[in-house]
Amino acid sequence: MAKTASFTCTACGASYTKWSGRCESCGDWNTIIEEAPLSAGPASKSLGAKRGSSIALSDLAGTEVPPPRTVSGLDELDRVLGGGLVPASAILVGGDPGIGKSTLLLQGAARFASNGLKTLYISGEEAAAQVRMRARRLGLAEAPVKLGAETNLRDILTTLEAERPQLAIIDSIQTMWADNVDSAPGSVSQVRAAAHELTAFAKRRGTSVILVGHVTKEGQIAGPRVVEHMVDTVLYFEGERGHQFRILRAVKNRFGPADEIGVFEMTGAGLAEVVNPSALFLSERGTPSPGSVVFAGIEGTRPVLVEIQALVAPTPHSQPRRTVVGWDGGRLAMILAVLEARCGIPFAGLDVYLNVAGGLKISEPAADLAVAAALLSAREDAALPAETVVFGEISLSGALRPAPQTESRLKEAQKLGFTAAIAPAGGKTGTDASLSLTRATDLTGFVGEVFGA
Ligand code: TYD
Ligand code: MG
Repeated sequence: MAKTASFTCTACGASYTKWSGRCESCGDWNTIIEEAPLSAGPASKSLGAKRGSSIALSDLAGTEVPPPRTVSGLDELDRVLGGGLVPASAILVGGDPGIGKSTLLLQGAARFASNGLKTLYISGEEAAAQVRMRARRLGLAEAPVKLGAETNLRDILTTLEAERPQLAIIDSIQTMWADNVDSAPGSVSQVRAAAHELTAFAKRRGTSVILVGHVTKEGQIAGPRVVEHMVDTVLYFEGERGHQFRILRAVKNRFGPADEIGVFEMTGAGLAEVVNPSALFLSERGTPSPGSVVFAGIEGTRPVLVEIQALVAPTPHSQPRRTVVGWDGGRLAMILAVLEARCGIPFAGLDVYLNVAGGLKISEPAADLAVAAALLSAREDAALPAETVVFGEISLSGALRPAPQTESRLKEAQKLGFTAAIAPAGGKTGTDASLSLTRATDLTGFVGEVFGA
């Protein structure tokens, strides 16, 4: 077999025959490095020499009851996993260094272990004594979790074979080192080899394996995306420096809904669950001010209210600025274009800043109307009526489309004391008279209704 591809993107794992500054696959810059090619396994003479075995799907019926999931008791974690931990599953938990992955998994490990799961936590970054110190700080010193400090993959697999835990946590995949792979720990080939061996072990022995992966900006260390396709479930732990909130988000889940989120707060004694995220995201909101709008969104299976803030100001530059935090820049450009083309409200010559408060990232199209309201409110310097939530999708024609789960959005708003809502026509509402609901069919109608233009 010719080994041609020897350049690899450390962000997404794409292979190239020559170096270039930008990865064509994921679009990242300066992530392509030269890698020693994967050493081939023992040469087999031809494919198909040995017979595998297969089993009829119908033969499986009745023979195996699906093994039950184990819950940790940390509801925010269990929900993101799809309702608990599935035996023999491979889970990747990615996130920026220092965001709290080790803390989350140590707390999770302690909970799972207390619920009867034989749990092994292997750290490649800290000595066992350091992990124990952290556990003591978190009040988990007595938890029946076994600890290991090891980076050699062969030794780890030997330990796993001997111990046969039901849950193994590997912190982190970038520190693992397979001695049969000819490159440095953290390189794409090492990370892939380690993830491959560990997921294979999970499937073979029925152990659930959680791999921790640091998100790397650039350079020689491979990022967690390199192994996303090998695992059953991919979770990312997100948050912003300076904010206490941490969001665990499922981006892929073979055993549950993707896009589910769990919300935590980093405290002096570890991560605390946030039972009511809406209250948390709205906690910093002051009196209603121009440019601030509360969006009634859905994250995963749960309604979440967040504040969307916009600032619109005359630009000193020839090219006005468009800056977005927590939402999609392309989508903002679209809303601005629709406001201009369909409602005749121009934003030329104006800088536009948009921010989702609390560090949450929103991807729902239903945020369109809330964003448009925030932009208009900032531009007109007029606050929306107090205690009002807004949601709905805007199409290029300026028509409004009803958002899915209208009913649960409105219920959440009511629960948090909001008294008015603006939403597109259509969709079941199921709310009582304590919430005054304004229905708009198009953006022009909405602008007239809310801003009297
Ligand atoms: P850590 O779990 O080590 O992050 P990661 O494994 O993702 O690199 O978390 C490190 C941060 O969390 C560190 O900045 C300190 C903070 N922290 C607390 O605020 N409270 C705590 O109880 C713990 C254990 C950590
Ligand atoms: Mg860590």
